[in-house]
Amino acid sequence: MNLFVKKSLAQLMEQGADSTSGLKRTLGPGNLVALGIGAIIGAGLFVRTAAAAGEAAGPAVVISFIIAAVGCAFAGLCYAEFASMIPIAGSAYTYAYATMGELVAWIIGWALVLEYALGAATVSIAWSEYLNNLLGGAIPYNLSHSPLEHLVTRVVNGKEALVSTSEMFSGDVIVSQGLINLPALLILSIITLVLIKGTSESAKLNAVIVFVKVAIVLTFIAFGWSYINPENYTPYIIPEGIPGHESLREWGWTGVLGGAGIVFFAFIGFDAVSTAAQEAKNPKKDMPLGILGSLVICTVLYVLFSYVLTGIANWTEFETVGKEASVAYAIKTYMPGFGWLEKGISIAILAGFSSVILAMLFGQSRVFYSMSNDGLIPKIFSELHPVYRTPYKSNMILFVFVGLFGGFIPGSMAGDLTSIGTLFAFVLVCIGVWIMRVKSPEIPRAFKTPFVPLVPILGILVCSAMIALLDPTTIKVAVVWMIAGLLIYFIYSRHHSLLQKK
Ligand code: ALA
Repeated sequence: MNLFVKKSLAQLMEQGADSTSGLKRTLGPGNLVALGIGAIIGAGLFVRTAAAAGEAAGPAVVISFIIAAVGCAFAGLCYAEFASMIPIAGSAYTYAYATMGELVAWIIGWALVLEYALGAATVSIAWSEYLNNLLGGAIPYNLSHSPLEHLVTRVVNGKEALVSTSEMFSGDVIVSQGLINLPALLILSIITLVLIKGTSESAKLNAVIVFVKVAIVLTFIAFGWSYINPENYTPYIIPEGIPGHESLREWGWTGVLGGAGIVFFAFIGFDAVSTAAQEAKNPKKDMPLGILGSLVICTVLYVLFSYVLTGIANWTEFETVGKEASVAYAIKTYMPGFGWLEKGISIAILAGFSSVILAMLFGQSRVFYSMSNDGLIPKIFSELHPVYRTPYKSNMILFVFVGLFGGFIPGSMAGDLTSIGTLFAFVLVCIGVWIMRVKSPEIPRAFKTPFVPLVPILGILVCSAMIALLDPTTIKVAVVWMIAGLLIYFIYSRHHSLLQKK
């Protein structure tokens, strides 16, 4: 038994060429960029910008966005090379199988579950928050929050405020406790049904949502610009030890870096484009375009958006009242006469979150599809629907799994786990590109990462630093998750691996 057995490129190409019984090639370049933007703009922007400002970075959250974008750009360039070279579903998992062998591939595949499945759960939780906001808080707290969350009254900055939290401080008085997040389960079930119906149908729905989502972000930036209060940018970097700000996790430049770790979530998704490589019409040319194009567009929007949001409302408000549904809060409080925009933004955000959930669940089912085809997980994950040719059983199992997280754990916890899984995969993809250049320089690459090995090394460093900056509890949970994954590999997967059997 060889734990580092590798798939040859010829084997991968053969697998990807089977378009009669396998996945259908229906996606063009526009669809791929839209898939990227659909996956990228979501809770990270609309929820975590305020969280990063209120918990760590203050108005300098703009710099946090830039730092996170730089880390993603390094990894994105490496993804683009791989995706143009190995046009098979499965993304980082597949690349690792070809470069670093089966065990590492398994580890990445397992980390990607954190990214995609938990990513979908996180965004479903944010969807629930915004739905409740749109309905004027009509859904009872206990039916729209996890059992680990409480609604408390807390004194912040000298004022008593109602705060929904999973971290209690002394002096907090509990008003209500969560039980189950029903709206999160509702949206997950709807998206699962859409995905089962078909990839090109899902892509069409995604394209409409992306248009609405980008339009609303631009509208907010344009109208919000004139409501910026320059005083909100002072101090730009939060000084240490301001009394009354107990929920502040970090401050100063550490806070800015911590903020980058928090908003990194907003960039997750450009790599989901690479999971669709087997459904792209012209993967060699269009994959790099989809990955890098969506990343660039979103970075520009994020920097402008975070600048406007922290200019309209003061970062301290995002510690309390403006914490949930922060964009709607800022408009309601500081932009009189823009009630239409507040409603519009909430509806667009709900639609926008749906496309992120769609892309994440899509990505997860495609990674499982590849792992199952390789025998590392049971066959059921690659069984296609007789008519729609989508992995429908996998979609249904995923609904149950993701639903357990969406329905019962707090959004911030799920979000940080998502980031860690993704960053880990990024690090391994950067290593993989470098290995492949050294070992197989002759393989044609439609897109080449510039400055190898400098770019991969910088990608490894920046992404590892962002992992180190995440909350220690998150890191511990992720380690437990990876140990569970290794147990499954040694008990089940390596005995069923088709490559090992050969
Ligand atoms: N980037 C995606 C979001 O922010 C995951 O929702």
